[in-house]
Amino acid sequence: MSGRSLKERPSRFLKSGSREETFNMGAAFGREARGGEVIALIGELGAGKTQFVQGLAEGLGIDSTEVNSPTFTLIQTYEGRLPLTHVDLYRLENPDEVSSFGLEEYLEGEGVSAVEWANKGAGILPKERLMITIHVLEADTREIEIQATDQRHESWLAAVMAFIARHKEDA
Ligand SMILES: Nc1ncnc2c1ncn2[C@@H]1O[C@H](COP(=O)(O)OP(=O)(O)OP(=O)(O)O)[C@@H](O)[C@H]1O
Ligand SMILES: [Mg+2]
Repeated sequence: MSGRSLKERPSRFLKSGSREETFNMGAAFGREARGGEVIALIGELGAGKTQFVQGLAEGLGIDSTEVNSPTFTLIQTYEGRLPLTHVDLYRLENPDEVSSFGLEEYLEGEGVSAVEWANKGAGILPKERLMITIHVLEADTREIEIQATDQRHESWLAAVMAFIARHKEDA
């Protein structure tokens, strides 16, 4: 039903050399979002998932300093040009817990959602999403692997890649 499988969609790889660069990538995704997008973020402790989400918030017109890991609440929403739902599943012990706070309804909403530690909730995330894996290469260097699972997220990703390319030319 969901069209082509994950395997058939190409991964894009972006390099980030600083916290700011990861933030700016997130902001590009925020600017190009149209609503209904879901990002599954994967990466070790300190990889930069929250930095990315703070940038995403800024790109949606939300004060990024308000965005922190919703460690104790699991889920936090912010009002911007589009609403942002920020989820952190790090402390999730049992996938059944998420149904108790209605995660699915948030993720199906009109806003943009970003889920840190998405690998802990793989079974309950929408099939249509953007997978972002942050690989730590060195102290400040990250390789960011991005893959869409459906055409809508693929179009978003293409728009963001074009935005980033334009921005590089301007710099
Ligand atoms: N290229 C980079 N991109 C992102 N963060 C970087 C980079 N280089 C260094 N950092 C630092 O790495 C840390 C990333 O922290 P962040 O809270 O975003 O990680 P996280 O993946 O959300 O971790 P957690 O799993 O604990 O939620 C920050 O201290 C940031 O300054
Ligand atoms: Mg985090």
